[in-house]
Amino acid sequence: MVAGPQPRSSDSTPKKTSLIDTSHRHAIVTPVRRHLFVCTNARSSGKPACGASGSDVLIAEVQRRLLARGATDVLVTPCGCLGPCFDGPTAVVYPDGVWYGGLTPDDADGLVEHLIDGKPVEAKIMEPPGS
Ligand code: FES
Repeated sequence: MVAGPQPRSSDSTPKKTSLIDTSHRHAIVTPVRRHLFVCTNARSSGKPACGASGSDVLIAEVQRRLLARGATDVLVTPCGCLGPCFDGPTAVVYPDGVWYGGLTPDDADGLVEHLIDGKPVEAKIMEPPGS
C-alpha cells in the first residue's frame, strides 16, 4: 500500500504533531535549595589532585549528615577538576557561588550547615578561579 497525502485540517494547514514526550509533566519535582560540587579528580601524573586528598571521604561524610537530617532539597555531586588543584580538595556551592579549598572531612558539618541554612564555612572560602 502506498501512503497518500497527510490529512489536513479544514483550513488547509498541516496538523502539528508533537515529537516531545510530555507524559511526565505531572511528576512532583522537589526544588533544589543548594548544590555542592566536590572535585574528586584523580591524576596518575603526580600533579596535585583532589581525588588523592580525601574528597571521597568528605563527600561520604556530608551525605551521611544530610541523610541524618532528612535534607531532601540539597544535592552533593562529585565532579572533575574545578581548576585550583593546588588548593584541594576544592568544592563549590551553587547557587551561592561560594568556592572552598583545603577541605577535610572535618568540614562536613560546616558544609551541611551551608547547604541547609546558607551559612558558609568562612575559614575555607577561597576566591573563584580566574578572579
Ligand atoms: S584536581 Fe581538584 S581542582 Fe583540579
